[in-house]
Amino acid sequence: MAPSTTSALTLNINGEKHTLSVDHRTTLLDALRERLDLTGTKKGCDQGQCGACTVLIDGRRAVSCLQLAVAAEGREITTIEGVADGDRLHPVQQAFLDLDGFQCGYCTPGQICSALGVIEEHAAGWPSAATEDVRPEAGVPELTAEEIRERMSGNLCRCGAYVSIVQAVAKAARAEEEAI
Ligand code: FES
Ligand code: FES
Repeated sequence: MAPSTTSALTLNINGEKHTLSVDHRTTLLDALRERLDLTGTKKGCDQGQCGACTVLIDGRRAVSCLQLAVAAEGREITTIEGVADGDRLHPVQQAFLDLDGFQCGYCTPGQICSALGVIEEHAAGWPSAATEDVRPEAGVPELTAEEIRERMSGNLCRCGAYVSIVQAVAKAARAEEEAI
């Protein structure tokens, strides 16, 4: 008997369980968009280079075009559809709106998911390639524009809205710090 090339799996997305049967080669991106109608996550390059498909897996950023859906079972997946609190936008979404952090909007879901990851990673004290002093005793680096640019560098924007995107991430990160 030929081995099966499909699996039934349950994905936990935005706090809801979705059961589906997929070919083993199906990426998480295609499962989200084509099987579950979660089309907020965008397909740009489909090869891990543009960041349009960024989601959070267990709170960390991941490009969903490079993840197999079968490998995402049992993990907590957050897509752009799960970022707002009902009708209330997440502060990162609000900052993108307030500061015009987008033009056509195609890259925006990925930018926002990535920004959420960046703010968490920074708050946890993770250094980036732009961090001058990476010794633990140096503490959490300031989230300067240079730090934000480096940390968001996996997300390309063909409209070139970068200046506003950096400002939006900085504003949302400040709001988060003040809320602590
Ligand atoms: S579509 Fe995944 S990184 Fe471009
Ligand atoms: S807003 Fe158009 S690609 Fe970024």
